[in-house]
Amino acid sequence: MPEVQPPHWVLVGAGHIGTLAAAYLRAAGHGVTVIRRAAAAPIDTTLIFADGRGTQRLRLPVTTPESIAKPITYLLVACKTPYTEAAVSPLRLADTATVVRLQNGIGSLDNLLPGGARLIDAVTTSAVKGTPERHEVVAENATWFGDGGAAPQWFEGLARHWPHLEWTGAIRQRQWQKLVANAAINPLTALHDVPNGQLLEDETLHARMAAIVREADNLLTALDSDWPGDSLASVEAVARATAGNTSSMRADVQRGATTEIDAINGWLLEQGARLGVDLPINREVCSALWER
Ligand SMILES: NC(=O)c1ccc[n+]([C@@H]2O[C@H](COP(=O)([O-])OP(=O)(O)OC[C@H]3O[C@@H](n4cnc5c(N)ncnc54)[C@H](OP(=O)(O)O)[C@@H]3O)[C@@H](O)[C@H]2O)c1
Repeated sequence: MPEVQPPHWVLVGAGHIGTLAAAYLRAAGHGVTVIRRAAAAPIDTTLIFADGRGTQRLRLPVTTPESIAKPITYLLVACKTPYTEAAVSPLRLADTATVVRLQNGIGSLDNLLPGGARLIDAVTTSAVKGTPERHEVVAENATWFGDGGAAPQWFEGLARHWPHLEWTGAIRQRQWQKLVANAAINPLTALHDVPNGQLLEDETLHARMAAIVREADNLLTALDSDWPGDSLASVEAVARATAGNTSSMRADVQRGATTEIDAINGWLLEQGARLGVDLPINREVCSALWER
């Protein structure tokens, strides 16, 4: 087979996870250009790996939506979900563009892509924090890409440079598993300003977490009768494994930023409204966060 020329990606959201993805893409020989709202100097940033691999300087070219001459053929979306529409709608995408969505939650790109675009969802359990200049890679765990079809030609080469990256035919299941954990852990830790492990320690918070999971499982079973519908143990395992951590939603609330609640519990409410399934505790946490 002839060598496949690695794609050149336009990256929306060179934050923590977007910068880590850019480092892996570069290592695999892919091109990466960052889109910013306003013209800016190239990004000069540092990744600090927790596993003793040391640090990596990364310099990424930056452009603006108006400066891109040709329609975009490869787009990586890694901004926070509330900013997705503002970031993606000014972009001119090729009709058959490939778009990778590396975000928590579901649905943030709905109605924003051309009809012929290939949307690949990415679910990662890696963790990166820090500042825009210093990205601390806390954990490089499993990442799954998928869209229900076969992997594109460039995927195999990328997987050689992106630790624990897999193509899956069951991306929806991975997304739903992560969604249930995010729906249960993020809003409660944000509203009560506690680390994740407190949801296991505090009886009242644990009962609310279990109620959110039960409602989510009911809804997902209504969407797909094959959904196992018993997510509590795996959500508890996530809370245990990340007991000392501040969830991203708690961090957003602490710094007064818009949260990703619409793409997480809000998505569950939307699906519930469509199917006539009530999710009162999910509605309550959404309202509490919307009112902030
Ligand atoms: N960090 C993690 O460990 C992790 C793990 C799993 C999943 N995720 C998910 O990954 C997504 C990104 O999270 P993150 O932690 O990487 O967020 P982040 O560090 O806040 O990065 C978001 C980036 O998006 C940029 N952005 C916002 N609006 C934009 C626009 N209109 N045009 C271009 N860029 C724009 C921001 O730039 P400015 O700073 O200039 O606004 C920032 O660089 C979220 O959905 C999150 O839930 C993150």
